[in-house]
Amino acid sequence: MESRQTQDEHDTLLEVENLTVRFPVKRGGLFRKKQWLHAVDDISFTIKRGETLALVGESGSGKTTAALAVARLVNAHAGHVHLNNQDFLALDDEQLRTARAGLQFIFQDPYSSLNPRLKAEAIVREPLESLKSSNRQNSGASDANTSQDHDRIVDELFEAVGLRPEQKKLFPHQFSGGQRQRIGIARALATEPALIICDEPVSALDVAVQAQILNLLRKLQTDRNLTYLFISHDLGVVQHMCDTIAVMYMGKIVEYADRLSLFNNPQHPYTAALLSAVPSVDRNRRSKFKRILIPGDMPDAINPPPGCRFSSRCPAAQPACEESQPELTAKKSGHLVACHLVSETGESPIHFKR
Ligand SMILES: Nc1ncnc2c1ncn2[C@@H]1O[C@H](COP(=O)(O)OP(=O)(O)OP(=O)(O)O)[C@@H](O)[C@H]1O
Ligand code: SF4
Ligand SMILES: [Mg+2]
Repeated sequence: MESRQTQDEHDTLLEVENLTVRFPVKRGGLFRKKQWLHAVDDISFTIKRGETLALVGESGSGKTTAALAVARLVNAHAGHVHLNNQDFLALDDEQLRTARAGLQFIFQDPYSSLNPRLKAEAIVREPLESLKSSNRQNSGASDANTSQDHDRIVDELFEAVGLRPEQKKLFPHQFSGGQRQRIGIARALATEPALIICDEPVSALDVAVQAQILNLLRKLQTDRNLTYLFISHDLGVVQHMCDTIAVMYMGKIVEYADRLSLFNNPQHPYTAALLSAVPSVDRNRRSKFKRILIPGDMPDAINPPPGCRFSSRCPAAQPACEESQPELTAKKSGHLVACHLVSETGESPIHFKR
């Protein structure tokens, strides 16, 4: 038992516990008082080395804020983040500078996230240079040797992401959207990070290019044993991309399960609605699911509805749903679900079969 626990600890790369982020907002007139927008509200998840966890949810559900808080690019109000068994939120500025090299982002818009004044090779090289300057005091290597090492790493990364050597000398505007995202991926890989956070990495791309980039991310993961936190508003994008899925709604995780189980047996009404919107090439799935429409928009995150936050839009809502907030609880099916009406065995209040 003890060795099993040790093994689990060894396998876990990222552990996020009770992470909470809130932003101060001011509303009203003369006597306005400070209010809080609860962007991320008490969420927990883990990612094993070499695996992918997808955070999925509509716009404004708190996916990016959660990722930024993990990387300490926004302050967490509460919670813990352990990366590589290191208490990430407790690092001082000096330690954080070095530790950040172990965590890289791939962003949605590969154009605005790449410096337009730098050539592609300099963009990919930049994280290596930053890491070098943080490590300079400890390093015995001469700058000439380091520079040659960086040249070699940049060449290797260009090849790994499917860019040609002569493209190193081009500027971002001389690339297509898909090629720009390849530069962003090469840059993210440069420091051999333990964790890569992909924030909607294909949302800005054409469907055909999306598939190429997703295939590339999968291949790189296999070749280099990469670990991804993969953010998307679209369950369709993550269906071939992740091991585990956490569905978020208004800052909360409402369902957490392994990918196959979640796709075959979604239990939270919100997950079911998201899944019903995924176009499928699988005829069996198409006949099994019908589209579940979610009326209206997500409510105001400053004054969330009482009880279940999804109650104002949920097709299965009962009056009791507004009385108390459902806890995320383990069902016999292995899912964690936050819904008063999902049974202990994991039976959903939404019926999928036509
Ligand atoms: N710096 C900030 N100040 C105030 N509110 C913020 C800030 N950043 C995000 N928010 C709010 O926090 C909530 C979560 O936003 P977030 O960007 O994390 O959502 P998201 O799930 O990534 O959405 P999208 O799919 O649009 O990227 C939203 O209500 C947003 O308006
Ligand atoms: S608790 Fe009620 S309102 Fe909330 S998701 Fe479940 S059925 Fe819908
Ligand atoms: Mg976002």
